[in-house]
Amino acid sequence: MIDRERITRTFDEYVSAYDAEDPKIRLKIEHTYAVAALCEKIAVSAGAPDPELAWLSGMLHDIGRFEQIRRYHTFIDSISVDHAAFGADLLFREGLLERFAPDLSASDAALLECAIRAHSAYRLPSDLNETEVMYCNILRDADKLDIFRVDCVTPMEDIFNVTREELRSSAVSEEVRACFRERHAVLRGLKKTAVDFCVSHLCLLFELVYPVSRKIAREQGFVDKLLSFSSDNPETRAWYAYMRDHIWECE
Ligand SMILES: [Fe+2]
Repeated sequence: MIDRERITRTFDEYVSAYDAEDPKIRLKIEHTYAVAALCEKIAVSAGAPDPELAWLSGMLHDIGRFEQIRRYHTFIDSISVDHAAFGADLLFREGLLERFAPDLSASDAALLECAIRAHSAYRLPSDLNETEVMYCNILRDADKLDIFRVDCVTPMEDIFNVTREELRSSAVSEEVRACFRERHAVLRGLKKTAVDFCVSHLCLLFELVYPVSRKIAREQGFVDKLLSFSSDNPETRAWYAYMRDHIWECE
């Protein structure tokens, strides 16, 4: 049994130790609540045995982000820590989970750990069982759906650490275009230009597992808003027109 009141209270207490005036911290607090709500919605629709556990996975999935920003002053995993593994270590190896859900069964804790550790991986580990895959996919879908929202409410320059000029003038790399045409996510190393980062976030749509997640993505309107980006580069403008024509195909 999951004590939501205790979990939200503990989360609010936990994050109060960090600077809520910092927009990066505020962003992650809002993201956490949004992802938790989306997890529950997807879990119900997907027929998951315990939608509350899915909700909890959303509440705890980015717990590592707060220590990451405090210790390393960045959310970029490649120059700091893998925030998913870092958060899972805090929760499951250093005892932080006790503060949130002391009565959680060992099997639920194992499922939770699995989902949190794998939430930002390019691909899931191959040795997971069906239930583990389900909770992982629910969390991964929810996280991606809220990334579309975050992209719309935060200046792109801040999200991707690029200048306005770079964003408006850059071209989309051929490797990144190929990912879109093949309808899958973009591996980190392939992104070279400022606008590559924007296209790579749009490609997350192709990774959504559950039909309800695609439905939510469509209804949210954030993907369409991101696609309305108007570049100063004629080639990029033409590429965005192509993406607008093809992104919702095969539904
Ligand atoms: Fe995350």
